[in-house]
Amino acid sequence: MKKVVGTCLIALAFWQSSLAQSSKMDKFIDQLMAKMTVEEKIGQLNLVTGGEATTGTTVSTDVESKIQRGQIGGIFSMSTPSKIRQTQEIAVKQSRLKIPIIFGMDVIHGYRTVFPIPLGLAATWDMDLIQQSARIAAEEATADGINWAFSPMVDISRDPRWGRISEGAGEDTYLSSKVAEAIVHGFQGNNLAAYNTMMACVKHFALYGAAEGGRDYNSTDMSLHRMYNEYLPPYKAALDAGAGSIMTSFNDINGVPASANKWLMTDVLRKQWGFKGLVVTDYTAVNELMAHGLGDLQQVSALSLQAGVDMDMVGEGFLTTLKKSLDEGKVKLDDINRACRFVLEAKYKLGLFEDPYRYCNEQRAQSIIGSPAHHEKAREIAAKSFVLLKNENQALPLKKSGTVAVIGPLANSGPNMPGTWSVSAELDKTASLVEGMKSVLGNKVNILTHLGSNLLADSTYQKHATMFGRTIARDPRKEEDIIAEAVKTAQQADIVIAALGESSEMSGESSSRSELDIPKNQQDLLKALLATGKPVVLVLFTGRPLTLTWEDAHVPAILNVWFGGSETGKAVADVLFGDIVPSGKITATFPRNVGQIPIYYAHKNTGRPYGNSGDFEKFKSNYLDVSNTPLYPFGYGLSYTTFTYSDIRLDRNTLDSNSSIQASIDISNTGDYDAEETVQLYIQDLVGSVTRPVKELKGFQKIFLKKGEQKTVKFEIQIKDLKFYDNNLNYLAEPGDFKIYIGTNSRDVKEKEFKLL
Ligand code: BGC
Repeated sequence: MKKVVGTCLIALAFWQSSLAQSSKMDKFIDQLMAKMTVEEKIGQLNLVTGGEATTGTTVSTDVESKIQRGQIGGIFSMSTPSKIRQTQEIAVKQSRLKIPIIFGMDVIHGYRTVFPIPLGLAATWDMDLIQQSARIAAEEATADGINWAFSPMVDISRDPRWGRISEGAGEDTYLSSKVAEAIVHGFQGNNLAAYNTMMACVKHFALYGAAEGGRDYNSTDMSLHRMYNEYLPPYKAALDAGAGSIMTSFNDINGVPASANKWLMTDVLRKQWGFKGLVVTDYTAVNELMAHGLGDLQQVSALSLQAGVDMDMVGEGFLTTLKKSLDEGKVKLDDINRACRFVLEAKYKLGLFEDPYRYCNEQRAQSIIGSPAHHEKAREIAAKSFVLLKNENQALPLKKSGTVAVIGPLANSGPNMPGTWSVSAELDKTASLVEGMKSVLGNKVNILTHLGSNLLADSTYQKHATMFGRTIARDPRKEEDIIAEAVKTAQQADIVIAALGESSEMSGESSSRSELDIPKNQQDLLKALLATGKPVVLVLFTGRPLTLTWEDAHVPAILNVWFGGSETGKAVADVLFGDIVPSGKITATFPRNVGQIPIYYAHKNTGRPYGNSGDFEKFKSNYLDVSNTPLYPFGYGLSYTTFTYSDIRLDRNTLDSNSSIQASIDISNTGDYDAEETVQLYIQDLVGSVTRPVKELKGFQKIFLKKGEQKTVKFEIQIKDLKFYDNNLNYLAEPGDFKIYIGTNSRDVKEKEFKLL
């Protein structure tokens, strides 16, 4: 009882102090806004680029005098304490009201020290590690003058043709929500005003990952039922975790582009979810409303503001048209005031009014950015993100002896190791795969290497795929000649490691693909290497699920290493040579071919379910030419050891709103290596007023088992785990029968039934 009272008192004190904080903030901002002209208020809504990394046309010119005139609220893609201090000085010394600038950056998977791409981070299923990666990124970025991260990207995607699937946590609602929370906590800590924390920006609101045909920036059209159950929860989870800002998406949603979508930005975001932070558009998204067909710049800027958008990224439509719209009665001062207040509040919460130079500390920048400790963490996380897709006859791990030939276009390209959106990485200083491996293996293993083939046979396509400094050497000879020479190198080795796949810019923004195989010329190389009869390990670089049907059938071992960040090479050596046992599991389904897309584990049953026999079944929901099953299911990933799962035990088989069911399962390490396993819990609602997915992830636990060891894993199931939105958007659980599944991936599971009363 004492404890309960104590907890209540602490909660009350906390509530009172945050109330006092916010009334202090309100008072401060009221006073400041009372002094501001309309032009100065509109100026705060203008976010311009500092030009270090851009994904479109840059509009703003004459930045310095705009700052002096109070026409810029924020700048992104600018770094270093000295440059930011200099710029901040203009704002706080030369503008009339001395309002500091907020500095943003795409801090997506690390800053100078780069961690695996987000899809790889998610594959660790390790929320502590993911949070630590964001914490380190924030330590480094804030030391470099930045206080606002355009991350996490929480867009669910079930279409690997979409290149930006690499930037999110994959296809699952529950897992993406957990990852979103971890990243927000990592960036923001528990005090946004601290010198080493930064404001998170959840993106891209909303449904950006559901672009038709997987083509970037394309339209989405989705039922509310699907939106609320499957696509919206990760945004909400990130906001509930305290994210201070949110970014609108480029796409059209059921006929209204997100950046002008009042239902989304005001009804859902503000009214239903109670969000009280800053809404910023994506890059020139206001201007793009013209191409969407919503009007001229003045009209679309007014629409966007009225929809609930506060800050305009890059396009300057707000800056150049809102005053006119106000004078003509086309927008209300209230809307401008609202938007301005949210911008000022963000600055207040970051402590910028107290100390505009809080994030500019040369000495801290020098001592922590890219520190050895950060690199050690990056190496650990990279190794844990790798997914062992195949390991026939224990081809891996390798022995640390003899000669290994590392062959392929990704073998010697340091700049490609960090992956897409590593805008603050030192690309030229990043070790290549071969360099990283050599530094770990020393002279124990003799390493030979060869380009093997070009990244892509088509030089134009290669040019796009290696932009932003991510070069890969191009050999002008015929592909056959390069391959023939590589084969000679392979013949001198005991083992061949084929370093193949995508370059980092073949995924990420504006990198949609209609075919998802390893490029044809690289496949030819792989076939030639296999034909030598040497054992071949495929080390696969990719930012998305690829179609690996042929490779799975012919290559003895496949290790998917995504883009592992700064320490990729060392981490690959750690895993290939057995110092670390692989434990990553994919969070987006790998299809057998492109025609299966969209393919995801949490699908509906249909009225004519397919029996998964592998063969075509007439008058069932399946294809004539490919099975419904994926090549690798969601949650899949092998280990060097084996795990055996017992049957599930339930402590009771009925549930009501006041009780819970405990499900237990024993897991044994039955192989030869100590290793980590991710135990996954899925639930299926068997009967409902609306159709429900065949399985939905509802929990997972990472355990470490020494060889021969057994552990019991327990999951508690409560009514909240069974709730969903019905077609009237009521959030409820319906009584009836449910199935519980526990297993090593979404396919290989044990099951048990229970009833909700
Ligand atoms: C991307 C965003 C990014 C922004 C700023 C846009 O092109 O869609 O994810 O945060 O650029 O760089």
